[in-house]
Formats: sequence, structure tokens, C-alpha cells
Amino acid sequence: MPKRSVRDIDVNGKRVLVRADLNAPQREDGSVSDDTRLRATRPTLQYLRTHGARIVLMSHLGRPKGKVDERFRMAPIAAKLSEILGQHVPVAPDCIGPEVEALANNLEPGQILLLENLRFHKEEEANDEGFAKSLAKLGDIYVNDAFGTAHRAHASTEGVTHFLPSVAGLLMLAELDMLGSLIENPRRPFAAIIGGAKVSSKLAVLKHLLDRVDTLIIGGGMAGTFLKARGLEVGDSLLEPDLLDAAKAIEADAAQRNVRLLLPTDAVIADQFSADANTRVVPINEVPAGWQILDIGPETIREFGNALSGSETILWNGPMGVFELEPFANGTRAVATLLAESNAVTVVGGGDSVAALEGQGLASKITHVSPGGGATLEFLEGKVLPGVAALEDRP
Ligand code: 3PG
Repeated sequence: MPKRSVRDIDVNGKRVLVRADLNAPQREDGSVSDDTRLRATRPTLQYLRTHGARIVLMSHLGRPKGKVDERFRMAPIAAKLSEILGQHVPVAPDCIGPEVEALANNLEPGQILLLENLRFHKEEEANDEGFAKSLAKLGDIYVNDAFGTAHRAHASTEGVTHFLPSVAGLLMLAELDMLGSLIENPRRPFAAIIGGAKVSSKLAVLKHLLDRVDTLIIGGGMAGTFLKARGLEVGDSLLEPDLLDAAKAIEADAAQRNVRLLLPTDAVIADQFSADANTRVVPINEVPAGWQILDIGPETIREFGNALSGSETILWNGPMGVFELEPFANGTRAVATLLAESNAVTVVGGGDSVAALEGQGLASKITHVSPGGGATLEFLEGKVLPGVAALEDRP
């Protein structure tokens, strides 16, 4: 069911309480190392500013476990956001209470006040009703733009919707629209490339996608379990023995549904898990004992490219190798390039996949880059996200 959004309501002069996912990765010194999530919030904030809203912005940062933790203060986020928006974004001393209410009440149209980290209060994650009411006092309207946190039923994503008119922000709408159309009516042929270290974290997604895709490509550490399930030797590669049967079941299901399932046919292998390891490229059935697969090989890259050509929709989630170590980053980078050069509708989710795109300056060539993380995965598993369900449906 489509959701009402900021575009469906009058925000002029109103205090608009916006929940965003500003939980951006930070360096040791606290500065933001990847501002994708912050930039993703810009369309909603821009819209609200130009329509005369008085904006009270809120987010969590990290997992401070209900206590004030200096490492998770919002100041560095506010600094980066000010730069992105070209407007000073001050931080309130807390996220609830009379002092914060006064600051919210004194906002001029177009001004933004960022609340201090919601998770400094344990009541946020407990979805405490009193805390949600205190947050609701800061706005006349609630806008949820935090798709990345919509899988959490917290006070700022679910509780608050019981006390204010509650609509979706523009990033939330874009995520629901793009990810929803992948699941409901993708342009065909539809191919998904799923990578990452573990089958266990992607099993539900793989199962849900099998019903929908024409081609399923599996790379990354999780391919080891599928290769082993096919009876191949994978040396010291990452393996989840408990999931060998699940991998076999997915293969069987794919065959039954006429879904083409591709695994790597060659690999970059290493004698240890390290950037200084000795490396070799070998056919996938020649991985020696004592060596481990750490990236897909050149033949695999060609084959994945051939399998993708002609696709009308491509979904990519998860790296093809140990992307954070330079000798094993090539496969992930190559997939980023394949998607950027494709004419298909391309949707990319997951931190490493997005980082690979950003690192090569290719993000703008992708139809939709989802900053959602865990929420994106749960959505692709077919789960109802509480933060989405709580928003008003469009009449
Ligand atoms: C994320 O980074 O996936 C979201 O911001 C949610 O964070 P959490 O996993 O700490 O709830």
C-alpha cells in the first residue's frame, strides 16, 4: 500500500519532526568517513526547507546502549550535514525535555535543529510510550525518512507515530518504490548478484528472490558453501557446514523454477588471509588444500558480465571478495563497473557494494543506491518493516 508523504501535506510554518538514519561510519577522530546516508537525506530536508517547514531532525548514532557516550555525540554528523546542506545545523543538548522544546518552538521556517543521539536514552530502543510522547511534543507532523532504521520498532520509528500525523520522507518513498518494484513487478529479465561472507545472513533473501529472478549469481565468501555443496574442494575457504543442505536446496529450487544459478568458475586464492599473502588465480575445481578463495577470478568476471548483459533489472548486494584488502578487491570493483555500464534498472544495497561504487565514482550511474543496510535486506526477505507499517497509507 503506498504511503502518504511530505508531498501530500501542508508543512508551511509547521514544526516537522524528521526521523532520518544519520548513522554514518566515522573515523577514529569522530569525523564522518562515508557520508552516503547524510547526502541521501538531502532531498527531504531541501523539500521541507523550501516549503517553509521548521525542521526538528533526529537520529541514532552507533549503539551507545541507553547512556551518554562521548564517542557517539551528534556534533560530527551536524558538521558534515551543515557542509552538505550549505546551512548551519546546530545540535540540541538532548533529544527531549523543556529546553529542547523551547529550541524547537523558536525555529524559524527553513531552520534545522538536530537533536542529540536518541540512543542516549534506553527508552528509545524499548519503544517507551512516555519517551515517544516527549519526542512528539517537538513536532506538529512526523516524517520518517529513516528507511535504514525502519526494521527497528523504536520510539522514534514506531512509538511516535501514535501521537502525530505520520508520513514518509522522500528517501523512504524512493526506497519503498525501487525495492518494492523489484519484489513486485521487476522489468525482465531480472538478475540478482548476491555476495558477502556468509550464506546464513543472506539465506532468507536468496530464498525470497528465487521466486522472482531469472538469473541468480552468487559470489563472495558465501560461494564457498555452494561450491562445496556441488562436491568441489574449497581448501581453507570460508565454509558453513551447517548450511550445505540449504545450499543444495537452493540449487534444486533454482533448477525447478528455471532460474539460472551461477557460481564462480575461477578464483583468486591466497595461502593466508592477509594483504601480504601469496596469491594465485586457479580454476574453481583446483583450489589446493591450505589455500583459500578470497576473490572471484577474471573468467568469472567475464561470465558474470555475459549473464548480466540483456538484463532489464539488476540487483546487487554484497562484495565478491575480501574487498577491504587490495589484492582481493578486483572482483567487487569489476561488478560495480558492470552495473554502472549497464542500461538495466540497477539497484545496489549493502555497505561494501556501495563503497565500491563510491570509490570508483560510479554511484551516480546506478538507478538507485540503497543506504538501508539491514533494513534493505529484511525488505528483500519479504518482511514487514515496523517503521514503514506505522506510516499512514495513501487514501
Ligand atoms: C544501520 O546501520 O543498519 C541502521 O542505522 C540501524 O542501526 P542498528 O543496527 O544499530 O539498529
